[in-house]
Formats: sequence, structure tokens, C-alpha cells
Amino acid sequence: MRIVVVGKGGREHALIRSLSESPGETELFCFPGSDAISELAQTVEVEDMEGLIEWMKANAIDLCMAGEESYLLKDEGLANLCAQNGIPCWGPPKQAALLEGSKEFAKQFMERHAIPTGKATVVESAKEAREVIGGSYPTVLKFDGLAAGKGVAVCPDEESTDAFLDEVFGKKRFGEGSLLVEECLEGPEVSIFAAVSGRQALVFTPARDYKLIGEGDTGANTGGMGAVASRQLLEPGLMAQIEEEIVNPTIEGLANDELGYVGFLYFGLMLTANGPKVIEYNCRFGDPECQAVMPLVSGDLATFCLEGAKGSLRPELLGFDEGWSVGVILASAGYPASSHSGDVIGGLESVEGARVYHAGTRRNEAGDWETNGGRVLAVVALGADRGSAVSKAHHEAAKVDFEGSQRRSDIGRLHFE
Ligand code: AMP
Ligand code: GLY
Repeated sequence: MRIVVVGKGGREHALIRSLSESPGETELFCFPGSDAISELAQTVEVEDMEGLIEWMKANAIDLCMAGEESYLLKDEGLANLCAQNGIPCWGPPKQAALLEGSKEFAKQFMERHAIPTGKATVVESAKEAREVIGGSYPTVLKFDGLAAGKGVAVCPDEESTDAFLDEVFGKKRFGEGSLLVEECLEGPEVSIFAAVSGRQALVFTPARDYKLIGEGDTGANTGGMGAVASRQLLEPGLMAQIEEEIVNPTIEGLANDELGYVGFLYFGLMLTANGPKVIEYNCRFGDPECQAVMPLVSGDLATFCLEGAKGSLRPELLGFDEGWSVGVILASAGYPASSHSGDVIGGLESVEGARVYHAGTRRNEAGDWETNGGRVLAVVALGADRGSAVSKAHHEAAKVDFEGSQRRSDIGRLHFE
């Protein structure tokens, strides 16, 4: 089977590693890829998505797998272009990817299908936003389009609200678009992933990511500083409630609205006192949750995704380890405000019994790995219980070092101990 994975980060490195371990013969390609990914998958040397489609047609590609969301929402949409050209695609068409691409679309979808979520109002100006807020804080403001993870502000007071309203409507930092004023929910957050093909879905291992830069969940928001995943993360009763109240109505809603969803669907949930509620949908796997979840998945991911892309979900092709997985991110100096490239990474060869997934790395002229971005790599370890996965992941992550490296020592510990 010849598979192209689209993306370049740690999530794609983890997906490609799992595809490479699938039992059948697979030939793997990646666009745009990275130096680390190129050790497992050949880089497709094209300029853009149109070039990629032409290349896939000319190279008898059996499956296109979407890693990151941007291509799904760009121009006509990666999955739509694949469909027009007869290439099976594991990833949703643009009209369904709007669940991630437009907060307003997602909110209307949830209201239409009675899926629990925070109440929200769409506004078109700062004045209208202030009227809706009516002086009641905290409040949550969400820019309607893709904003590279920066479009959401949880505002405790008027000052922070005014500052964000100025970014959106004054400085137009995210471009043109409306804003959602949303009820502020409280509770622990959890990430649920389902593989979806039409009316069928398979829920993967749940995970929790650690979004803030500092120990104890403090400081600035990041792309994710680590993740913990396990079937035991949530009580069986709670997991059943999430499937019944959120996952199943979402899958039915997507099918009834004829959105043709195929691929991974990510539910960002908040476990509130009034039950689990959806904070956001993403039309892809989470990053860094994917790096923690994939080592727990066994079986034939390649055939699973190909069959799913063709319309038949086959859960019997995959197995899920009952244990725990902990992934610790190493970030470069200055992250998240900035990042630092060119710092040589030492100690990778001494990591034992853990997986290393590269996100922001490159080979330098001497052939050594060096930093090339904010989040540099993830060190992921498994254990039969949480404690052993936590100790192993941190022990192995401590062996990897570079100038200015940042790592949270409470990944997998905080929220449990
Ligand atoms: P998002 O960019 O949609 O992932 O949101 C970023 C973060 O904002 C989430 O992970 C939550 O921590 C927080 N958040 C989003 N919506 C709400 C809400 N309605 N109430 C409280 N916090 C929220
Ligand atoms: N882990 C958060 C995300 O992938 O959006």
C-alpha cells in the first residue's frame, strides 16, 4: 500500500511510525514532511496541494492521510480534491472540516443536534460584544475562523476583554470575521478521539494535554507541553456518558447533515458539574495527544484507515493497550513567545525503551540533530500503571538536552496526585 501523510509535526511523525509498523507492505510518503520523518517516509517534492494531487495521481497512491487541518480547509479542501481525483482520503471534506474551521458553524451544529456545549452568541463588533457580556465575568471570546490556536481568550475581567476585543475588531489580528461570546465553563479538560467513517465510529484511547508552559498549569498557552493517555483515564461510567451524550449524537448529526465525515475527529471536552460539554471540535488528531496515544494502538492502522476512507470502518483491525502512556515535550529557548533554532540536541542515542517523536528538529551540516522550532520533540513512555509510565518518560526525557531546553516535570502527575 502506498500512503501519503500530509503534515510535518510530531503528530505526523507518530502516525507515520505506526503506519510503518502496520503488518502489510507499506510504502510511505510525506508532504511537506521533515528531516526526521524522511527517515521513515520519502518526502514528496511538490510546491503545494495542487502539485500534491497531481503527484499522487501519477504515483498510484492508495491512500492520502490528513495529519494537520490546514489543507483540509484550504481552497477546495484536500479531501474534496482527493475525491474528485479518485484518491481515498482519511480526513474530512471541507464542508465537514468547518467543525474546526468555524466556531459559529460548530456551535450551530451542536445546537441543532442537542449536543451539550456552552451557550454562545455571535457578535460583529466590540460594542455588540460588550452588550452581550453585560458586565458579567469571566467570559470567553472566540474568533470565528482558524487563528493558529490564538483565537480564544478566557477573560476574567473588563480589562482583558477590552484588550482582546481590540485585537479582533481594532487591530484585526486574525483578519475579518465574527466573534463568539461564550459562557465560561469550569472543570477538567479531556481530549476524546474517534475514527469516523460515515455513521460508524471507533473511540480511541482518551488523553489529556498540558497546554500551559509552566509547572502546575501556569504561564502562557502553548501548542501543548505533554500528554497522558489511558483507557483508565476516565471512569467507565463517564466514558459511556460521553459516548452517549456527545460522540454518538455528533456522528449521527454529521451523517444526517450529509457532511460525509471521514477521518479522526477530536472532541475537546470540559467535565463540568453539569456533565461533559464540548469546548471545541478539531477535524484531526490532537498534537501532542497523538504522540501519547499511538504507542498504545496495535494492529493494522494502514488497512484500518484505507478501509475507513473507502467507507467501511473495521474496528477488529486495531487493538488498544490497557496501560498508560506519558509524552513529555521538550521545547526550545524562548518558547512560546518565540523559539530558537540551531541548538544541537544531545543524548538522543541514550534514550532506551521510550519513543522519540520529532516536531521542530532538523539535521545540521555535520549530520547532528538541532532545534528548528518551538516544540522540538516528544519523549513517550508506556507503563502498566500511570506511575511507571510517568517515571520512565521523565527519566528518558532528562537524557535529551540542548541549550535553553524547557520541559515540564509534572506531565502525567498534575491532576492525579
Ligand atoms: P480552543 O482554542 O478552542 O482549544 O480553546 C483554548 C482553551 O480555552 C481551551 O482548552 C479551554 O481551556 C479554554 N476554553 C475554551 N472555551 C471555554 C469555555 N467555554 N469555558 C472555559 N474555558 C474555555
Ligand atoms: N492538543 C491540542 C490540539 O491539538 O489542538
